[in-house]
Amino acid sequence: SAHVTTRRLLDMKENGEKISVLTAYDFTTARILDRAGVDVILVGDSASNVFSGHNTTLPITIDEMIYHAKAVVRGVQAETSRAMVVIDMPFMSYQLSSEEALRNAGKIMKEHECDAVKMEGGRIVADTVKRITDVGIPVMGHLGLMPQSIYKYGSYRVRAQEGREAEQLLEDAKLIEQAGAFAVVLEKIPSKLAEEVTAQLTIPTIGIGAGPFCDGQVLVINDILGLNREFRPRFVRRYAELDAIIDGAVRQYVDDVKSGSFPSPDESY
Ligand code: KIV
Ligand code: NA
Repeated sequence: SAHVTTRRLLDMKENGEKISVLTAYDFTTARILDRAGVDVILVGDSASNVFSGHNTTLPITIDEMIYHAKAVVRGVQAETSRAMVVIDMPFMSYQLSSEEALRNAGKIMKEHECDAVKMEGGRIVADTVKRITDVGIPVMGHLGLMPQSIYKYGSYRVRAQEGREAEQLLEDAKLIEQAGAFAVVLEKIPSKLAEEVTAQLTIPTIGIGAGPFCDGQVLVINDILGLNREFRPRFVRRYAELDAIIDGAVRQYVDDVKSGSFPSPDESY
């Protein structure tokens, strides 16, 4: 079926059809996700953690994001070319000024054919969201727990649990909608607040640890596949235990090489 567009996501919200989003960082995974019918692939700056092994999302650079984005776009273009591809703008690529944010969003869009960029923040990025969408680059917002602000928060606990932060989040969501954002990620906030934001916005909300009332859901691909046995937050549902499967396969391979049972005559020329 047809490539997913920002218009299509708005229609899905209006029709009550939930939006499925997963992250990907490489060609092979993106191709599998697109074939399997995921609506949106997010090239998240979570690549900093789950691909590169950093403790936070802060170290990843714009050139590294573009490298991942190019591989993901090639995976989507390889066959079905259905999924929308959204690229995270990394830490300090959009905060200094709207001018620099536009230059970097333009660079991301120009160097390959992705569909949109994503950035964290509410009122502080509203002007920037407007500047970027005005020139024709779709922007996805991100509110609640914003991992690029982890050193300000000091922990990854649930955000907006009390009145003031909750009110601010609702205002921020409205501000970035007015600024032209086509969707907004809500990360790790109470379900009830996510429900209210979802009801008050025209654009779709995409939740992660934000309960069942969002217009869509997003998870990190490594998390749903169980690639990290230590990481088990309650908002992740595991659909596979790839860590154990890969571990078993590698141990077997090592044994087979050591014992000489690999390669067999059939596996040789
Ligand atoms: O970087 C990321 O993977 C994200 C999603 C989890 C929303 O921002
Ligand atoms: Na991110």
